[in-house]
Amino acid sequence: MAWSQQILRIVCLAFIVLLSSCTKDSEIVDDAEFKNIPPRGFPAVVYPVDNEFTYQRWALGKQLFYDKRLSKSNTISCANCHLAAYAFSDTLARSVGDNNSIGRGNAPSLANLAYHPYFTRAGGVPTLEQQVLVPVQEHDEFNTNMIELVAELKQDAAYVQAAQLAYARELDAYVVTRAIANFERSFFSGNSRYDEYAQHGNRYAMSTAELRGQVLFMSERTHCASCHSGFNFTNYLFENNGLYEVYADSGRMRLTLQEGDRARFKVPSLRNVALTAPYMHDGSLSSLDAVVAHYNLGGKLHHNKSALVRPLNLSKIEQQDLIAFLRSLTDNEFVTNRRLQQ
Ligand code: HEC
Ligand code: HEC
Repeated sequence: MAWSQQILRIVCLAFIVLLSSCTKDSEIVDDAEFKNIPPRGFPAVVYPVDNEFTYQRWALGKQLFYDKRLSKSNTISCANCHLAAYAFSDTLARSVGDNNSIGRGNAPSLANLAYHPYFTRAGGVPTLEQQVLVPVQEHDEFNTNMIELVAELKQDAAYVQAAQLAYARELDAYVVTRAIANFERSFFSGNSRYDEYAQHGNRYAMSTAELRGQVLFMSERTHCASCHSGFNFTNYLFENNGLYEVYADSGRMRLTLQEGDRARFKVPSLRNVALTAPYMHDGSLSSLDAVVAHYNLGGKLHHNKSALVRPLNLSKIEQQDLIAFLRSLTDNEFVTNRRLQQ
């Protein structure tokens, strides 16, 4: 081979290497390749018949989720209260909505929503599609309504076209609610160190303190896993864990009007819980130390408090182990997944 040809080859090769390293540096994510498959060890997702996953639906939902035009004053989007870096919760006790209004409660994480049987802490919303209507209309969230919102979004030709591509119809409430729900169903989180250990068979993924914490968490002594059970660390039931003797928020009773449901709230998933402080429906406990101290004392007297919440007599080390276990539920891949970010 001629010498000049050799040089040409080397230059070409260098060029190709440079090109590919450029793409890597800027971390271009090809959304169109997105398959949306649940993590290893998780059950398959049952999609509503009219809202199967497609890339176009997901991409439209993503755009809407991050669009500030959803609020009346065009200042906040869903992502103001549900931030990817905090497993789609926020850092405030009570989230701040349109016109700086203070919301009624603490924004929950949106991880693994695809498996929830109903939504909100009182459980009053049966589907993820219908849940989208809640923030749109709440005065302390977006403070608007679907009719006004759709009229505003329709002025954007790109949205009108995206609606046709995704659902073969005009942009309307049907499209907005379904697209956002389609995007939210892709918030899978199943790659924490706990999953590495428990699902993927890596014996070294968890420390000895974390493993001691896991044993305590699953034990009859603490009963944590009686309520925070299964792969998503919740049984989705409505329970009272004795935060107060008198609650400002009547919880599930708001819906059922039954005294037996007073101050019962949906058991929250504990995935990524180290990132979702402050805790509980009102954000009143600021750290995991405070949460574990609360359970260790057995909670306040309330007529609906579960019998499983009672003094535990855990030593300081046992409390620290329990916290270490909770921290092993953080899934860094999920909270840094650029595909789910703006
Ligand atoms: C102003 C802050 C705020 C905004 C904006 C907001 N949310 Fe929320 N979100 C909350 C709070 C607070 C709750 C808990 C409400 C409750 O349970 O009563 C919540 C609950 C939810 C839930 C229920 C989760 C569960 O575990 O049941 C979903 C889903 C959700 N929001 C999605 C969205 C979407 C989608 C948007 C945008 C269309 C949005 N949120 C906008 C604060 C906000
Ligand atoms: C009887 C059922 C039950 C038991 C047992 C229980 N929990 Fe809970 N847990 C709940 C409920 C309900 C909430 C939400 C309460 C609220 O919103 O005010 C909660 C909230 C939490 C939170 C806050 C999550 C968040 O995102 O705000 C953590 C952390 C937690 N529990 C950990 C534990 C640990 C650790 C144990 C064992 C020591 C335990 N739980 C035992 C029902 C239970």
